[in-house]
Amino acid sequence: MTDNYAKEINRRRTFAIISHPDAGKTTLTEKLLLYGGAINLAGSVKGKATARHAVSDWMEIEKERGISVTSSVLQFEYDGFCINILDTPGHQDFSEDTYRTLMAADSAVMVIDASKGVEAQTRKLFKVCVMRRIPIFTFINKMDRDAGDTFDLLDEIEKELGIDTCPVNWPIGSGKGFRGVYDRNKQAVFLYSDTQKGTREGETTEVPIGEGDRLFSAIGGDAADKLLGEIELLDGASAEFDLERVRAGQLTPVFFGSALTNFGVEMFLRYFLEMTTTPLARKADTGLIDPVENGFSAFVFKIQANMNKAHRDRIAFMRICSGRFDASMEVRHVQGDKVMRLSQPQQLMADERKILSEAYAGDIIGVFDPGIFSIGDTLCMPREKFRYEGIPTFAPEHFARVRQLDTMKRKQFIKGVTQIAQEGAIQIFQEFNTGMEEIIVGVVGVLQFDVLKYRLENEYNVEIRLEPLPYEHIRWIENKDLDVAKLTGTSDMKKIQDLKGNPLLLFVNAWSVGMTLERNEGLVLSEFGRN
Ligand code: G4P
Repeated sequence: MTDNYAKEINRRRTFAIISHPDAGKTTLTEKLLLYGGAINLAGSVKGKATARHAVSDWMEIEKERGISVTSSVLQFEYDGFCINILDTPGHQDFSEDTYRTLMAADSAVMVIDASKGVEAQTRKLFKVCVMRRIPIFTFINKMDRDAGDTFDLLDEIEKELGIDTCPVNWPIGSGKGFRGVYDRNKQAVFLYSDTQKGTREGETTEVPIGEGDRLFSAIGGDAADKLLGEIELLDGASAEFDLERVRAGQLTPVFFGSALTNFGVEMFLRYFLEMTTTPLARKADTGLIDPVENGFSAFVFKIQANMNKAHRDRIAFMRICSGRFDASMEVRHVQGDKVMRLSQPQQLMADERKILSEAYAGDIIGVFDPGIFSIGDTLCMPREKFRYEGIPTFAPEHFARVRQLDTMKRKQFIKGVTQIAQEGAIQIFQEFNTGMEEIIVGVVGVLQFDVLKYRLENEYNVEIRLEPLPYEHIRWIENKDLDVAKLTGTSDMKKIQDLKGNPLLLFVNAWSVGMTLERNEGLVLSEFGRN
């Protein structure tokens, strides 16, 4: 591996931004792009509506065609770093892909609305980050609006999410009384200046905390007294900054700011780049694969079907885990046991697709897939043959029984649901110990039900009826030699199996999950399935 390779890989930072809808993920992403020079200040506000429009149009088209919604990847340069931001679709587009995207990231930025605290979708995505033990950074947004008590907010994050917090900066007031933030590392206050919703460049005024008079006149006596008291409390009570614990996903550095007015964003970006990791080594069946020491390797984390209906083509998205990729090289597809050239490698940005000639560990590429790749597949150098750990199956939260309207089309129906399930858009289950007579579909986001119906009609010529089921919780049974027929559950519990015959349980509420665990000693249930 040449020095140049190592340099390219080590300057890469690949992360996902997670949040509940409306917390400010899009706004923060735009402001980060602004610093990277990918968009300009004047254009950003005006361009925002247009950019949004373009993205949502793209999604509409995808929906029309019945394919899953793109998780796009944004790549930009900042201060010598090459940054890859993985977008995690939210709202009604929330699907298993949202979770899978996190499998391709080396760290996550959690955006929280200061007035709302921890919300449902953040909680779900956070669980996946914890499972992977990747560093999690918290950006508490909308400080220009009235926010809850700062100590309470941190308490909520710690209690609800079970992660220690370490504020890197500290807000001075909120809403109309927002004066800026105190940088604990620099021991200085950075004053907030109104940027007219980010249309003007803000001034950066720095006041060292030791300069009492300047501080008092800058933020006012009351705010200064309050701040000095809070700093004392913080220094005594909050968890100490410990980079190792951050890297292990046990401690989250917390930043306060306002993405809309562009305050605190660059401060966040600078600290984040210092604290987050270079592309991480990844576990394979032969051990850890080092991103720099090893030749090219990647794994598939998302498959997008049917970009072009006439050809039934698909795009496989892969995260490069080690080495350098170039379009002319031969690679081994381990699961298919074939050496091949990847066809039409491209970088994806919403509706823009750029053919690329080279990429490095940390980057995400999309390649044309003639139907050979599956989620979790490994690609590596022809002389190697290792497999990366599979991507888990994430718990669906919506279930429906599927019935085909024309029973003569049984074959197409089975083929259609099976293929769509293989692509990872839906999960299918059967009644426990019966064949394919009854099919139950599970999805992470309800939009996937529409996608399934649309695709079966359009691609397989099969009409279906979906009957919603009341279950919201699914658990994989971890015990290997358990007689599932003998399990005593609650009255709302349903036993089902996946296509490989693995037994699973469905529950209407979380209470029943606990009750069933209590009634069956030694039973181990998991929210993640293994592929
Ligand atoms: P999301 O991607 O997480 O769903 O959130 P998004 O960035 O779209 O932001 C949701 C709304 O919150 C937007 O307002 C956005 O302008 C606003 N917002 C984001 N960051 C801040 C902030 O720091 N302070 C304040 N006050 N508002 C913020 P909207 O009215 O829904 O959209 P728009 O009309 O502004 O585009």
